[in-house]
Amino acid sequence: MAIDDRLVMTGMRQEDEELENSLRPRHLREYIGQEKVKNSLQIYISAALKRHDALDHILLYGPPGLGKTTLACIVAAEMGQNIRVTSGPAIERPGDLASILTNLNQGDILFIDEIHRLSRAVEEVLYPAMEDYALDIMIGKGPTARSMRLDLPKFTLVGATTRAGRLSAPLRDRFGIVFRLEMYTPEELSKIVARSAGILGMPFDEGGIMEIARRSRGTPRIANRLLKRVRDFAQVRADGRITAEVARDSLNMQDVDNLGLDRVDRAVLSAMIEKFGGGPVGLDTLAAVTGEDAVTIEDVYEPYLMQLGFIMRTPRGRVCTPAAYEHLGKTPPTEQPGSGDAGVEQTQLF
Ligand code: ADE
Repeated sequence: MAIDDRLVMTGMRQEDEELENSLRPRHLREYIGQEKVKNSLQIYISAALKRHDALDHILLYGPPGLGKTTLACIVAAEMGQNIRVTSGPAIERPGDLASILTNLNQGDILFIDEIHRLSRAVEEVLYPAMEDYALDIMIGKGPTARSMRLDLPKFTLVGATTRAGRLSAPLRDRFGIVFRLEMYTPEELSKIVARSAGILGMPFDEGGIMEIARRSRGTPRIANRLLKRVRDFAQVRADGRITAEVARDSLNMQDVDNLGLDRVDRAVLSAMIEKFGGGPVGLDTLAAVTGEDAVTIEDVYEPYLMQLGFIMRTPRGRVCTPAAYEHLGKTPPTEQPGSGDAGVEQTQLF
């Protein structure tokens, strides 16, 4: 399946970026869900404003599409500061980061998405910048080379990652504030979809909005993308109103099932069940038999399948649960796949 066909892919296309920017809440009070994160942020922001100080560095982690960039922009708006947005892969050399850092102003927010993808050499520039607001540069080469320290303005780094485990310990330890973003409930997503439909001027019924919310895999980015597709369907096949029936027919037609699973999710589950007796099966094997990228399976598909309780991770590989069999209309085996020692290891793992 081409990436562009996928409704559940949580990566960003230019079209999504435009949609997301137009729907992005600008202030904390407009942001729906992530209550714990919001409450803590509110306190840290108020305290920093009272002290006329910069906020501590913040690390946001969790599956893609949950609003990490949105939160970083909100932090900047609430602090009344500018934000500079970049990403780990875009900062190729230490000099690239040095140039970004020396162009910051006092109080600015520097947002680095996919921060786990910074190279070690770039990370090393970041350590003194985060800790001492300083940049160490080498002048000259060979025996006469000497290091010089430049002062940087006091800034706040907001780092985002889908993989907190991939961050090196020294980098992780330099964040004073660490938040894990959780998947949204269907009720929270329905508020987000209703807000987006309102902004985009689409008439809707509660049932239509809820149908989209239920199939959005706990992810606002997917909810907004589904909303747009349902709008097209509503305008062509109905009278433009997003009703439960219109949403259901539109999403069924696009192979997004009643839990939000698409063809790739079902291919992953079917492969596990039909080719490997429910597992355990290794991630790379799963990637090979489904023709998907292992990182995409791990970062995009697996978190939601695990959230639904359809897949479990064990040290010997992934295992399908009876709920997954039932969702695909198959009969689960009486003996649990990977039971026995895998179950024991599972307890040790978590
Ligand atoms: N759009 C995307 N995510 C949102 C959120 N958490 N709250 C409100 N609107 C959103």
